[in-house]
Amino acid sequence: MDRVEIPEVVLNSGHKMPAIGFGTAGSMSPSAEHLTPLFIEAIAAGYRHFDTAAIYRTEEIVGQAGAEALARGLIKSRDELFITTKLWCSDAEHDLVLPALSESLRKLGLQYVDLYLIHWPIRIKKDDTNSIKTMHFDIKGTWEGMEECCRMGLAKSIGVSNYSCAKLSTLLENATIPPAVNQVELNVSWQQQKLMEFCKDKGIHVCAFSSLGAYGSHWGTNAVMESPILKDIAAARNTTAAQVALRWIREQGATPIVKSFNGERMRQNLQIFDWELTDEEVAKMKQIPQQKANTGKAFVSPEGPYKTLEELWDGEI
Ligand SMILES: NC(=O)c1ccc[n+]([C@@H]2O[C@H](COP(=O)([O-])OP(=O)(O)OC[C@H]3O[C@@H](n4cnc5c(N)ncnc54)[C@H](OP(=O)(O)O)[C@@H]3O)[C@@H](O)[C@H]2O)c1
Repeated sequence: MDRVEIPEVVLNSGHKMPAIGFGTAGSMSPSAEHLTPLFIEAIAAGYRHFDTAAIYRTEEIVGQAGAEALARGLIKSRDELFITTKLWCSDAEHDLVLPALSESLRKLGLQYVDLYLIHWPIRIKKDDTNSIKTMHFDIKGTWEGMEECCRMGLAKSIGVSNYSCAKLSTLLENATIPPAVNQVELNVSWQQQKLMEFCKDKGIHVCAFSSLGAYGSHWGTNAVMESPILKDIAAARNTTAAQVALRWIREQGATPIVKSFNGERMRQNLQIFDWELTDEEVAKMKQIPQQKANTGKAFVSPEGPYKTLEELWDGEI
């Protein structure tokens, strides 16, 4: 099958980002043997934007796949790829940001990433008993560390993930470089109109993770892929529910990040750029019941800074 040409969006940093990303989180123990050929297949199919994170343990695999794609002539230079990685919560502190990014770059085998994100507005530390403790998160200091990475050219753009409007407001009050991206759970069953409007107003691009509701994964929901409304729209159009779900995100002005480690489904997910949903279909999709799947409840505890989910999400849940 021919390679799909992916449109791009322009971030507030001035850099361009391909308008669909390939998710690489999917397994607790990812195997390079299994995944490297799949990621190369994704590049051959047309994916240029890869979403990884220190915590996913796929940085090395993404790096290997990119290098192999270059060697095979699937891409002409590294610049054709857009690579995102993320700062894990154990490194979410001013002085730890640069060493964490340096380690990610070493694993990726790259001189720079296209986008570096603070994975969660959370700081965790291991205590003496090796159990994880949630600590105070220094939103300003951690962002200063991100800005340093950007100024050094190690990250072309910087941003955040899992930030509410309230946390974005605090960040914007303190930032010299505004975040280019907020990567959040966004799909037809978690539409987040308030956050979408806020980000649009502030020039922050939204990347949508769990675009399909993380269908079949332990943090996921069936509410997207098994929505009767979505299924009816897909059947009437002779598309799939996944394509309708991804097209809806694109039409919200956001960039879907979607994970499929299956050749046929990863190709299917790219077929969203040459057709449009009707106003009537979008109106029907507004009626889909709303519920957040990935709440981050593991970060909530009576001893930590976030004692309830309401506090973690500043009431935006
Ligand atoms: N920033 C964050 O905190 C955060 C959190 C979660 C995820 N993410 C990122 O976002 C990416 C995507 O999110 P996600 O992995 O949570 O979920 P997702 O992309 O919504 O869903 C992935 C699941 O859907 C299945 N799938 C994919 N395409 C399909 C299709 N066309 N038909 C039927 N099933 C299909 C996949 O199975 P197969 O692989 O078998 O096709 C997989 O089980 C992640 O990989 C990661 O990079 C970020």
